[in-house]
Amino acid sequence: MSLFDHSEKPIGLASDHAGFAAKQYIIRVLEEKGIPYRDFGAYSEESSDYADFAHPLALAVEKGECYPGIAICGTGIGISMAMNKHQGIRCALCWNKEIASLSRAHNDANVLSFPGRFLSEEEIYEILVTFLNTPFEGGRHERRIRKIPCG
Ligand code: RB5
Repeated sequence: MSLFDHSEKPIGLASDHAGFAAKQYIIRVLEEKGIPYRDFGAYSEESSDYADFAHPLALAVEKGECYPGIAICGTGIGISMAMNKHQGIRCALCWNKEIASLSRAHNDANVLSFPGRFLSEEEIYEILVTFLNTPFEGGRHERRIRKIPCG
């Protein structure tokens, strides 16, 4: 399975300190494959607040500057909560490849989130490749995702 071959846009990345190592791993993978990315931080393992990095990434995805986004913190929970405050974001917290596949097929997730502190590099790779290569099924799911934004 190829890693990703259909985006002209850079993939957007964000993490806090707890997701930093996993983000660095993803950067290594993307660089090896020649896939463009934009890193919104954090830029070290110094203690930081996930929302400070989530919001700039969310705005870039909403504006169409990056696609998709990848948002990582220790559990994936805090950063996905911050991402999903944005009406144009469908951020999916994925911990295995089956969930990653369904998040694309059924939810047209535009941001992948995962728990950096609880997954091996092999698991992260599997989730990443699955997320990037699974198309949205549309149909009844189109109607459902249209009802997600509020306000
Ligand atoms: C940081 O210690 C941790 O709380 C954060 O990365 C995340 O897991 C929060 O949801």
